[in-house]
Amino acid sequence: MKTLEFKNGDKLPMIGLGTWKSKPGEVYQAVLWAIEAGYRHIDCAAIYDNEKEVGKALDYAMKNNMVKREELFITSKLWNSSHRLEDVQPALSKTLIDLRLDYVDLYLIHWPVSFKPGVGFAQTREEFYTYGDVPLSQTWQGMEQCVDTGLTRHIGVSNFNISKLKEIMESARIAPEMNQIELHPFLQQDNLVNFCKANGILVTAYSPLGSSDRAASIKKANEPSLLDHPFVKQIAEEKGATPAQVLIAFSLHREIAVIPKSVNKERIAQNLEAMQLSLDDKEMSTLSNIGLTYRFVDGSFFTGPISPYSLADLWETV
Ligand code: A2P
Repeated sequence: MKTLEFKNGDKLPMIGLGTWKSKPGEVYQAVLWAIEAGYRHIDCAAIYDNEKEVGKALDYAMKNNMVKREELFITSKLWNSSHRLEDVQPALSKTLIDLRLDYVDLYLIHWPVSFKPGVGFAQTREEFYTYGDVPLSQTWQGMEQCVDTGLTRHIGVSNFNISKLKEIMESARIAPEMNQIELHPFLQQDNLVNFCKANGILVTAYSPLGSSDRAASIKKANEPSLLDHPFVKQIAEEKGATPAQVLIAFSLHREIAVIPKSVNKERIAQNLEAMQLSLDDKEMSTLSNIGLTYRFVDGSFFTGPISPYSLADLWETV
């Protein structure tokens, strides 16, 4: 298994199982199939509303000697409603109870957007906090405390742009070690990726296959399809691989970890086998020059007239 390395030598398996959108009733089996197939990295989050079921699967796998805790790399994420200093550790403690673990390997601030305690998705202005109310540096302090208390081995962020990363880094006692962002041939984010790499921040690609199973409410009409793009399909055909494997290999070749989601046994195994797929310079260049820029998870569900946040708070470019 190819890995990325943290500063202390800990290793992150480059392909992990994504669990966003994996429904309760499906994710238990998906996690067990993944572990059986050889996955050792599972990406979770409190807001996915399935951590209890993931935890049940992890517990089963460990109790039945399919895998040992120290062989697993488990990530979870702090939801927007727990950004105040006093709310961070309790949020991780709840996740640990759900996942049936003593610690996670990596804990991320899910979004640079803050809601009042108990809010799932803010619907009114009153349900938001602003950066004035809860600065990101305050949330980061809470994340650092989670390292101090051993609840997590590593901390990082998700959906952070360069200026937000800089803001955290200015006051950080423990520097962020990961930025998990949307990445695929339609959204390559070279500047952000290069900034992360230059500053010792590892990168994970989410929605590497285009997340076509998102709820209709957060999808736009006529979205382009990554899996059906002719360049992707042609390379897949030439290599005797599948389009999904080409997309996963694209991230691996950029030295970026990648977390394809699947709840299907064959596709779970197939996605891990992308580890063996080597793309040459010409194929990488074909994908890099795909000529289409598109962000699937555009964050507009956090912006709009009732929100104190704008898309400019999230993204430097589209
Ligand atoms: P399923 O869970 O039924 O396999 P993303 O990782 O970008 O969020 O994409 C997830 C979507 O891609 C899901 O609809 C998932 O469906 C589908 N998917 C996962 N692996 C593959 C694959 N190897 N080939 C085609 N579709 C896949």
